[in-house]
Amino acid sequence: MIKRLFGATGAEVPVVGQGTWHMGESRRAERDEVAALRLGLDLGLTHIDTAEMYGDGGAERIVAQAIKGYPRESLFVVTKVLPSNASYAGTIKACEQSLKRLGTDHIDVYLIHWWSSQHPIADAMRAMETLVMRGLTRFVGVSNFDVDQMNQARAALGSARLACNQVLYHLRDRAIERELVPHCEREKVAIVGYTPLARGGFLRDAVVEIAKRHGRTPRQVALNFLTRRAGLFTIPKASQPEHVRENAEALDFTLSAAELRTIDAAF
Ligand SMILES: NC(=O)c1ccc[n+]([C@@H]2O[C@H](COP(=O)([O-])OP(=O)(O)OC[C@H]3O[C@@H](n4cnc5c(N)ncnc54)[C@H](OP(=O)(O)O)[C@@H]3O)[C@@H](O)[C@H]2O)c1
Repeated sequence: MIKRLFGATGAEVPVVGQGTWHMGESRRAERDEVAALRLGLDLGLTHIDTAEMYGDGGAERIVAQAIKGYPRESLFVVTKVLPSNASYAGTIKACEQSLKRLGTDHIDVYLIHWWSSQHPIADAMRAMETLVMRGLTRFVGVSNFDVDQMNQARAALGSARLACNQVLYHLRDRAIERELVPHCEREKVAIVGYTPLARGGFLRDAVVEIAKRHGRTPRQVALNFLTRRAGLFTIPKASQPEHVRENAEALDFTLSAAELRTIDAAF
């Protein structure tokens, strides 16, 4: 799996990672979910995204089982604090609880899940800096923030920088390309696109034809397109092994400039 620099962090991170939303919600699915994540790790999808919200902590427990036995430095683990917990003390406590569930001593990037006025952003960012100083997270990020909210978060940080903004990005919703992507590129903040497969709503002729030409699937074309610029990452979630394999092979072909233009025009 291709890696690229994650914002200004200096860390090289797999461009395609693994999402975990809806994992850890059912005991019956647990074994398959752990196996899918481990298959992904073996295929180089070592960038794993989770959140305290997913399965009420259940997804973080699944991640803990999946990463057991892999060298910690080979992994890039991201989790998120719920805005309702994002007071100064609440953020620190939430991080400590996530670490316990994840069975690891640090997170790679700790995100605030979405903007809320419930707690001042300055309090959460101050807590994030404390967590960096204590070595509980390497980097700090946000999710679902617009440019103005990113600026407020950045202004509240002292020495730490925003590593990433995790946002909705799929072929049928490219709103972030207008303002957010150029802003993040200027500021050297990684963009991590979520829900990249968008329940299959991208199966338009243009994508299907391009996929056929490359001997690939439309989903692989979509993931390839969504990471066509240097600051973009994507985190599809897959519990089925054939899906994991398909996603892991999404970047080992190149879309031509003409094909990028065709997809651009089709959506
Ligand atoms: N920050 C946020 O607010 C936020 C919001 C939403 C999501 N996220 C993160 O982003 C991740 C991805 O988003 P998402 O889970 O909403 O949607 P997604 O990854 O676009 O779609 C997941 C669905 O696609 C299926 N799938 C995966 N690979 C496939 C393939 N190659 N062929 C056919 N089907 C495939 C999965 O099936 P199987 O599971 O059956 O394999 C699952 O049903 C989440 O898991 C989460 O970690 C973050």
